[in-house]
Amino acid sequence: MEAIIFELIRRSNPNVNNAFQSISNIAAFIIDTFCTPAMSLADNFKIPVYYFFTSGAFCLAQSLYIPTFHRTTTQSFKDMNTLIHSPELPPITSLEMIAPLLDRNTTDYWAFLETCVQFPKSAEIIVNTFDSLEPKAIKAITDGVCVPHLPTPPIYCVGPLVAAGGNGSHECLNWLDMQPSGSVVYLCFGSLGVFSSDQLKEIAKGQETSEHWFLWVVRSPPLNRKEDRFLPPPEPDLDVLLLEGFLDRTKDRGLVVKKWAIQVAVLNHKAVGGFVTHCGWNSVLEAVSAGVPMAAWPLYAEQRFNKVVLTDEMKLALPMDESDGGMVTAMEVEKRVRQLMEGGEGQDVRKVAAARKEEAAMALSDGGSSRVALSKLVATW
Ligand SMILES: *[C@@H]1O[C@H](CO)[C@@H](O)[C@H](O)[C@H]1NC(C)=O
Ligand SMILES: *[C@@H]1O[C@H](CO)[C@@H](O)[C@H](O)[C@H]1NC(C)=O
Repeated sequence: MEAIIFELIRRSNPNVNNAFQSISNIAAFIIDTFCTPAMSLADNFKIPVYYFFTSGAFCLAQSLYIPTFHRTTTQSFKDMNTLIHSPELPPITSLEMIAPLLDRNTTDYWAFLETCVQFPKSAEIIVNTFDSLEPKAIKAITDGVCVPHLPTPPIYCVGPLVAAGGNGSHECLNWLDMQPSGSVVYLCFGSLGVFSSDQLKEIAKGQETSEHWFLWVVRSPPLNRKEDRFLPPPEPDLDVLLLEGFLDRTKDRGLVVKKWAIQVAVLNHKAVGGFVTHCGWNSVLEAVSAGVPMAAWPLYAEQRFNKVVLTDEMKLALPMDESDGGMVTAMEVEKRVRQLMEGGEGQDVRKVAAARKEEAAMALSDGGSSRVALSKLVATW
């Protein structure tokens, strides 16, 4: 998947070239990770490149260290079966590495490695995070420890940038209005996250036995045929996908929504007290901005890495752990939902989430760290 995105962008280079020729006085070319193939064009025109890094500072720090790993090891991360220690970063198991980097024998790996090599060659890196969310990672990057043999470009933390979406309407908001404050656990796994039908049934069972209120966004399992993988999944048939009678038995305390919910509004609704998330960075920032504690259930991309950061470093999430077959059992779902929504561990992550919410608002307010960083960045242009 990642290799295809890089290739698509690379094939757009002639258009970028035309744009560079027709626009004079370009002060800055801002690209995201996947636009790395356009970097050499900007070099030709001597236009400074600014990366906008759409995941967090811990992930950026890990990415900056990847070329060093590449030089000093020969095995694929997927085969290492060991703990990975990067300077100043939390140790991760080798399987928790950013997913496209797991296997050296894939084009995804080489495309991502190239991006990690290019990061330090950019003028500056803009990161969607804020100073007090990831101080340790930000310090590691600015101290230069992630790129041992080259200077590290300055980074600007201008986040949390999240979609303004507090005012739309959706059936689930009316339902939330009727639920007690802080009572609902919200389960949603991003715009690409999908589960097998067996896994969906385990979630249903765990959610049912947890006895907690819930709002659950369900998408259809992935299509089996490889050539269908870019098609949108079909409308989920809840009666087939979930346990028999589940919807009926939980109708007084649960709502299942198909495919999509108005997430920012949901997370900011007072009825919502916890978020079971795939750990995509936008979802994480939306939860942080709303002060909602999380249970971390990563699926793809850099999400396994984010889980470690969220649970071990930030203390904003409880882990949702897979058993040996890669499945999260109903028992685990029940246990973590209870922990998240009740006292003890739940209390701890709730406190941290409330504090980060205040800090996120502060960072974006006049004189706040992200506002100041953005002003400085604009001043350099
Ligand atoms: C690449 O694939 C070959 C053939 O399957 C295998 O022998 C080799 O160990 C792999 N290399 C890495 C670095 O994973
Ligand atoms: C929500 O608010 C934004 C900004 O105030 C506005 O641009 C948008 O049209 C509003 N959307 C709806 C659905 O009301």
